[in-house]
Amino acid sequence: MTDTIKTAIADGVMTIALDRPEKKNALDQAMYGKLVSAFEEAACEDAVRVVLVKGVPGSFSAGNDIKDFVTRASGGDAGEETARFLRILAGFRKPLVAAVDGLAIGIGTTMLMHFDLVYSSPASLFRTPFLDLGLVPEAGSSLIAPRLMGHTQAFALLVAGEPFNAERATRANIVTEIVAADALEAHALKAAASLAAKPPEALRIARALVRGDEAGILERIEVEIRHFAERLRSTEAREAFTAFMNRSR
Ligand code: COA
Repeated sequence: MTDTIKTAIADGVMTIALDRPEKKNALDQAMYGKLVSAFEEAACEDAVRVVLVKGVPGSFSAGNDIKDFVTRASGGDAGEETARFLRILAGFRKPLVAAVDGLAIGIGTTMLMHFDLVYSSPASLFRTPFLDLGLVPEAGSSLIAPRLMGHTQAFALLVAGEPFNAERATRANIVTEIVAADALEAHALKAAASLAAKPPEALRIARALVRGDEAGILERIEVEIRHFAERLRSTEAREAFTAFMNRSR
């Protein structure tokens, strides 16, 4: 079986590659667990000053694995790895850079709200269909998105579930810059390496100052987790998961 999360360290940058192309990089519990391990290593390894996350061509991530939701809805799993990932992401102290090409759905969009620099190809699509799945926003997005883009855009994205193309995502401050697909990875890596070359202690403090209220974000994540767990078990959600699994294509 191929590894669905790959890591490499060079020039002060840990690159974490989501690599489950056959499922459009949908994230299951095993992947969240591996992401947590990668972030833990990045946090304590002095040689890592910046983390860069990327997907595969056409898919940054199709969001949480729906089969995984079904298992959680039936009590087979508490989704603890997802919760651990969200906590480590929100509490992470080194700069986070993302290279997004293609689909960024659900947590594929909301995780980006914790990133410092997000580069996107022109064809990317950002969408959070939480409501259509009978669910609620997660990953601290209910707090961070209105700050990033204002209430009406945040509502359009998180509650109405409107898709945002790369341009709208840039206007909404999810994306820092749109970069041609063939130059995306090199561009993101160069930006990450440039950050990694800066004085690390000043970088750490500056990031924390610019980022602001970490405790508030962590607190909101816990509130969202409680609502999310309750919604996962709802009839609304179960029906939506069944519809996805049985959809005809
Ligand atoms: N969970 C589980 N499997 C997923 C998935 C997800 N979130 N997203 C995609 N996949 C799987 C599909 O089931 C399919 O697997 P199969 O070939 O074994 O049947 C494979 O990935 C390819 O997806 P497919 O739907 O055929 O590709 P597409 O280009 O037609 O559509 C999406 C891509 C992402 C738009 C569509 O798969 C989708 O809507 N996925 C669900 C997204 C979602 O709701 N995520 C959760 C947000 S909270």
